[in-house]
Amino acid sequence: MLLLFLLVLLSQNYFSRGDLIADTCRKTDYPRICISTLRSNPDSKTADVKGLVRIILKAALGKANTIFNQANDLLKKTKDRLVRQSLDVCVSVYEGALDEIPDAIANVGTNNSVANIKASATIDDADTCEESFSNSPFTADNNAVKQLAVVALDIIASLG
Ligand SMILES: *[C@@H]1O[C@H](CO)[C@@H](O)[C@H](O)[C@H]1NC(C)=O
Repeated sequence: MLLLFLLVLLSQNYFSRGDLIADTCRKTDYPRICISTLRSNPDSKTADVKGLVRIILKAALGKANTIFNQANDLLKKTKDRLVRQSLDVCVSVYEGALDEIPDAIANVGTNNSVANIKASATIDDADTCEESFSNSPFTADNNAVKQLAVVALDIIASLG
């Protein structure tokens, strides 16, 4: 009887853990990238909702870092003046994002309005980089940064 009770408790806990990611992501604008990002990070198994936001933002930080490094690499190889201007824009805005995203991570749960401002700024950074090109080499990663930041904002808003 006790064993059965424990099994029921454990299975409820198991399912409610599984549901936290699905439930959290379902309420966001980009549930697919939300779920795939969280499922690919083992830390999300034990995270609360604030922890899930931090994991989403860390993924955005990784993408931002990739774009920043690629833009710097391309600057070394590119002669075209207009392309260089666009790459400079991306280096500049993502340099900002590499400060803003850790600030957002640090403020989730303690100062959600600051976390919100920093994540919103990151969306603008991705847009600014993307729109600086007529033919952007960073579309996929800019979209990922933007969508992850939107997901973070959606979840932060649900924290109240
Ligand atoms: C959040 O941080 C801002 C800027 O530092 C500050 O003005 C505000 O009072 C803080 N809010 C809370 C709830 O701590």
